[in-house]
Amino acid sequence: MCGIVGYIGPRQAAGLLVDGLRRMEYRGYDSAGLAIVNGHGVEVVKAAGKLDNLEQRLQGATPTGTLGIGHTRWATHGAPTTTNAHPHTDQSGRIAVIHNGIIENAGALRKALEGRGHVFKSETDTEVLAHLVGELYAGNLEEAVAAALRDVDGAYGLAFVSADEPGVLVAARKGSPLLVGVGDGEFFVASDASALLEHTRSVVYLDDGEMAVLSRDGYRIRNLETDFIDKPVNQIEWDLATIERGGFDHFMLKEIFEQPESLENTLRGHLLDDEGSARVHGLNMTDDELKQINRIVITACGTSWHSALIGEYMLEELARIPVEVEYASEFRYRNPVVDEKTLVIAISQSGETADTLAAIHEAKLRGARTLGLVNVVGSTIAREVDGGLYLRAGPEVGVASTKAFTSQVAALTLVTLRLARLRNLGIMQGRAIIEGLRKIPAQIRQILDRAHEIEALADQFWQSNNALYLGRGVNFPVALEGALKLKEISYIHAEGYPAAEMKHGPIALIDENMPVVFIAPKDTVYGKIVSNIEEVKARGGRVIAIVNERDADMARLTDFCFVIPTTLNVLTPLLTIIPLQLFSYYVALRRGCNVDQPRNLAKSVTVE
Ligand code: AGP
Repeated sequence: MCGIVGYIGPRQAAGLLVDGLRRMEYRGYDSAGLAIVNGHGVEVVKAAGKLDNLEQRLQGATPTGTLGIGHTRWATHGAPTTTNAHPHTDQSGRIAVIHNGIIENAGALRKALEGRGHVFKSETDTEVLAHLVGELYAGNLEEAVAAALRDVDGAYGLAFVSADEPGVLVAARKGSPLLVGVGDGEFFVASDASALLEHTRSVVYLDDGEMAVLSRDGYRIRNLETDFIDKPVNQIEWDLATIERGGFDHFMLKEIFEQPESLENTLRGHLLDDEGSARVHGLNMTDDELKQINRIVITACGTSWHSALIGEYMLEELARIPVEVEYASEFRYRNPVVDEKTLVIAISQSGETADTLAAIHEAKLRGARTLGLVNVVGSTIAREVDGGLYLRAGPEVGVASTKAFTSQVAALTLVTLRLARLRNLGIMQGRAIIEGLRKIPAQIRQILDRAHEIEALADQFWQSNNALYLGRGVNFPVALEGALKLKEISYIHAEGYPAAEMKHGPIALIDENMPVVFIAPKDTVYGKIVSNIEEVKARGGRVIAIVNERDADMARLTDFCFVIPTTLNVLTPLLTIIPLQLFSYYVALRRGCNVDQPRNLAKSVTVE
């Protein structure tokens, strides 16, 4: 996730900005830069890669000035290059901006600006902001920024400086965190309190639609309409480590709770409500090419393989295309039947998993079209495939994958919508899916608001040595993922099975010590799940059920029943997985396990 820091005061800005960016390195980034108002212009220094590269460029050539902005970029538009790094400047080079978020109408704005003679240097949506403000600038930066933002759609946390106003720093927030640091005769702006802690604990949190105008003797908060807003000054109580986790005890819990926002970012700009379809330009395939596809292979590892299984259900059900899901480590060594009419989709959070990368190479060797659903922009897999979709879930620090999984399922839903509407999915069905998708983030928030119920459940089961997760249809992969989550962070042996498969062996394991988790939303096979639960109860098993309605059967049969909101069957994995992620987290916590770095595991398996 990008980091923003700005400074105005009596001290030299450059060193303060770099220190502030260092405090935010944990957020993950792939380039960095700063802009300093130096008395006769705006001096911009930036570098791809880590902050060390930026510091190398600053050595012996550090811009002087007491007003400046700095940025670490997590690429969403355009590769992580020096040219794409922030800050970006306007046509005159006298106004600079740094930005977190995604400008949804950047394409249209850029085209209009180019039509008026603006020349762009980068592939980013952020540079459009700089040119827009530059064009509107008439000696008042604050007003030019406010006017520009009225034409901007999307999410932003941003900061502007101008060579012509050395006493002003303008910041604005909509959908991406931003706060003002109130120092002793100096003022800061940052995306994250960790960047300010060594200078001040007094902060003002901006809300969406608000701007902050910092000067050398104070600050003012307003909205885009010009109204002054009186905001309280808060005191930061957290220590640095806690701030880096956003106030959560672990990155995994932070990332579980980020899922409403990460899903909104994955879906942002892709849903075509009227057409009941999805815009997925990144596939780099024309509609005719997409129609030529007669088979799909999805290849991945671990959690990504589980989301692939959900993709199989969606694509076969809605797009009526045969789909095979392959462990990448298996695909790469057998002799798969793949040709130019096969679409091979690689799913990978890191974009660096060796087996998945090798599988893509094999697929390309056989002439298949390859796509990637990847979280890390510019990662190896993202550069190897013919096209794809970035998850835009932000960096996932916890080794156990959570928000990447739900973003993968959302991305697969977008690809499914695109392909299905080119075939036989009706517009009303497409619209229903989009309507359902738009409700998911709020529905996840409803589940997260009841996390304490799952925590209490963990108190009852944390000493178990085994667990069984059972689901049917599109929730069978959720059973697999729930079991993986539990085993990889709590070290309890857990297995996922199709519910009906239980009687072909696993039922022998059932006794009063074995928690059996059923994922059982009301769907076409709900009655059969109830029968499976009765089989477990008859053998003394303890039943935990994730349902979307606590009917008489569930009340009678289950030891614990967690009710989630109702959505379309194909979208239920986006909700049923949330309580299972929380359950594994709280159980692991009770067992004193290292939740963020479980033993023997790596975040990205770049070796065979
Ligand atoms: C998920 O909790 C695991 N950490 C692991 O299975 C992971 O999903 C797998 O290694 C694949 O990683 P990738 O998505 O980065 O390719």
